[in-house]
Amino acid sequence: MNRDFIIVQNAHTNNLKNIDVEIPKHKFVVFTGISGSGKSSLLFDTIYTEAQRQLIETFSTFARTRMPKLSRPDVDDILNLSTAIVIDQKRMGNNLRSTVGTATEINTYLRILYSRTAKPFIGPSFYFSFNHPEGMCPECNGLGKQIKIDLDIFLNRDLSIHDGAITHPHYKAGGFLWKELITMNIIDTIKPLKEFSEEELDLLLYSAPFEIKDARQKLAYNRNFEGIARKLEKAVAGRADDETADDEKKCLYKVF
Ligand SMILES: Nc1ncnc2c1ncn2[C@@H]1O[C@H](COP(=O)(O)OP(=O)(O)OP(=O)(O)O)[C@@H](O)[C@H]1O
Ligand SMILES: [Mg+2]
Repeated sequence: MNRDFIIVQNAHTNNLKNIDVEIPKHKFVVFTGISGSGKSSLLFDTIYTEAQRQLIETFSTFARTRMPKLSRPDVDDILNLSTAIVIDQKRMGNNLRSTVGTATEINTYLRILYSRTAKPFIGPSFYFSFNHPEGMCPECNGLGKQIKIDLDIFLNRDLSIHDGAITHPHYKAGGFLWKELITMNIIDTIKPLKEFSEEELDLLLYSAPFEIKDARQKLAYNRNFEGIARKLEKAVAGRADDETADDEKKCLYKVF
């Protein structure tokens, strides 16, 4: 008998018309055909069902009474079957925080494992989560990569802020954040960016939040200023891919 094939004899599950097939083993085999032609009937309802049934037969009576009862599929015989695994399609979320670990839920077990076997220096097991503020890496916020703004696209250094040096749509000349940046009175908005010192540029882009004291007018909304690149990078790290607006994607981010 040829052991390199799964041999199906006289399959008549559902609409299968007494089919004999030999399926090569150790190969990538595809069944195609129009809807209703019987692909699932052959694969799931015949071959897989029989593989499960044979597997369960090897278990003890005790185990078997706790397994689903499978009746013999409508087929005379299937030879050379080994244990079968059915893999179903499942859409992965396109959230930045979704990984193989979280999608398969293995991550949950790993966290418990780490919280039990590691030196318990930070308490509850949820701290062993890269998605928990207390557990995440402070450099990448638990993403495993850093998302940085591409400054060559983000800035037009020939211009002043007033004339539209910040190309991000949120900061376009006349817009709300543009007005706010001018009102805040902490950064020279008349000087072209290319004349900024390194400190001035760093203040604009990456300063930690601080309170604004000498605004030109009463500020409508923000009383604190935070570097504009830093703020955007934080925002984009905290949301799903599809939550980023299309016009914002044009001003793209570099991933490190
Ligand atoms: N449990 C069932 N009981 C009775 N008839 C069934 C059963 N499952 C499928 N059939 C019928 O068997 C035929 C083959 O269906 P099957 O699902 O195997 O087709 P398919 O090739 O997998 O189609 P699709 O491409 O849509 O998945 C169809 O006529 C269907 O109505
Ligand atoms: Mg099908």
